[in-house]
Amino acid sequence: MRPTTVLIALAFLAHAPYALAETAKAALRGTSLQPGLQGEVTLTDTESGLLIQGSLSGAPAGLHGFHIHEFGLCDDNGNAAGSHFNPKGTTHGNVIADGQEKAHAGDLGNLTVREDGTATWLYTLPGLSLAKGPNPIAGRAVIVHEKPDDFGQPTGNAGGRIGCGAILVSGR
Ligand code: CU
Ligand code: ZN
Repeated sequence: MRPTTVLIALAFLAHAPYALAETAKAALRGTSLQPGLQGEVTLTDTESGLLIQGSLSGAPAGLHGFHIHEFGLCDDNGNAAGSHFNPKGTTHGNVIADGQEKAHAGDLGNLTVREDGTATWLYTLPGLSLAKGPNPIAGRAVIVHEKPDDFGQPTGNAGGRIGCGAILVSGR
């Protein structure tokens, strides 16, 4: 390779991390309702929306409501996280299925926990981002609920908060 080619390649590599998406992590910890719960959620801005990847263990088998709540605070059994992130002032729903006009932006539906107490998930949400755009979620919290989200009003009847993690930007 000619020296200029090498330089261009190096310049590209040096800038590539900034061109790529921002990433955040939320360490899920069980509240006093489910102290053995633990897990991790990784959130990444992509061209097509917010990529949400996660896994957890130590939860009861079955469906559990899973939401982004307003504040990145997990005190008081996760109640310090406030209500569902709802920048558009809509009713409760399932933002994955129905979009932000018919659901709170933080209404991520349900997680399915297997018989062994573990769950993994991966999906992309259009119209949400970590730090840019109109509805940034960095610094908010992810909450795992005691019961399934049945999509009823006002917040899905999902009961107490068994897992909570603040969404912290970890790098670019
Ligand atoms: Cu919730
Ligand atoms: Zn909601």
